Amino acid sequence: MGKIVQQDILEQLEQLRQDAGAALAQANTTEATREWYAEYLGRKGRLTGILRNLGSLPVEERPLVGKVANEVKVALENAVQERQNAIAQAEMEAVRRAESVDVTLPGRTQTLGKLHITTRTLRDIYAIFTAMGFQIYDSPDVETDEYNFQLLNMPPGHPARDMWDTFYTTTPGLILRTHTSSGQIHAMREYAPDPIRVILPGKVYRYEAVDASHESMFYQVEGLAVGKHITFCDLKGVLINFANQMYGEGRQARFRKSYFPFTEPSVEMDIDCVLCNGKGCPVCKYTGWLEILGAGMVHPVVLENGGYDPSRFSGFAFGMGSERMALQKYGIDDIRYFYANDMRLLERV
Ligand code: PHE
Repeated sequence: MGKIVQQDILEQLEQLRQDAGAALAQANTTEATREWYAEYLGRKGRLTGILRNLGSLPVEERPLVGKVANEVKVALENAVQERQNAIAQAEMEAVRRAESVDVTLPGRTQTLGKLHITTRTLRDIYAIFTAMGFQIYDSPDVETDEYNFQLLNMPPGHPARDMWDTFYTTTPGLILRTHTSSGQIHAMREYAPDPIRVILPGKVYRYEAVDASHESMFYQVEGLAVGKHITFCDLKGVLINFANQMYGEGRQARFRKSYFPFTEPSVEMDIDCVLCNGKGCPVCKYTGWLEILGAGMVHPVVLENGGYDPSRFSGFAFGMGSERMALQKYGIDDIRYFYANDMRLLERV
């Protein structure tokens, strides 16, 4: 290699400036600009390599080379700084674009579930009675013949048992309750001789031929009040208040005489049809009235079986079918829809 002269070094610096400039234009990431810096301006980079030869130049030639080298260095440092800023800017812009929301796109519908009509009806009933001071009392679905019939004044062989088609089990004396009235005895035996005001909701089971108005499982809500000086007026007041809240203020109500072994006297309560306002329609079978529940004054034998002295205590009881109420309230024409899980009904009501 010949003697190094000032011209060579100046040419090398110029070459460096061009190479570095071109390479920088290709660096598209922050990482790439760091590698670029190491290659051209770093401690082991090309600029340092060129300046290592400075010592072999005559002293008077050195300042010019130093000045040019410094200019190249400053120019490249500015360039890389600028490049890094631009890259950072672009990276931020990319993030912003990726995370941005296009508010002009149509929204995605959220399909919300909702409570089953039976649950809603039961909750409506609970709210009305709890506001009147009734507590909710739970009693078993699987019952004994004793609680479901005998203690309710229906000894074995009593003809009124035919009012309830019963599911028996293979265990003698064990049945599925046919009505929530069996819970009356549980509640009385738990609280006697204290006064009681309870409602007893739950499933009941009937060995029925299933059709538009009969299911083999449905819900009832029983009511029971026992205390001193409870009269039929209390029964009427509570039930009329209930009907007005459940079906809307101003309902007409009527009580028809009826028969249940566990109440005396017994009645059935009708309200004027909520769909036709008493004019007559298919839902009320053109009578203008809807039967909503059975009720009566608790029979003295039942009070006694529950642990109350019937000469000092009296009470009333009622029982209503909640699906029947929902059928009437929402104008559904078939009880089988309730548990068939057909979305068309579940969405409609
Ligand atoms: N348990 C009766 C039924 O299922 C209804 C009822 C309850 C009647 C309480 C009177 C008193 O038909």
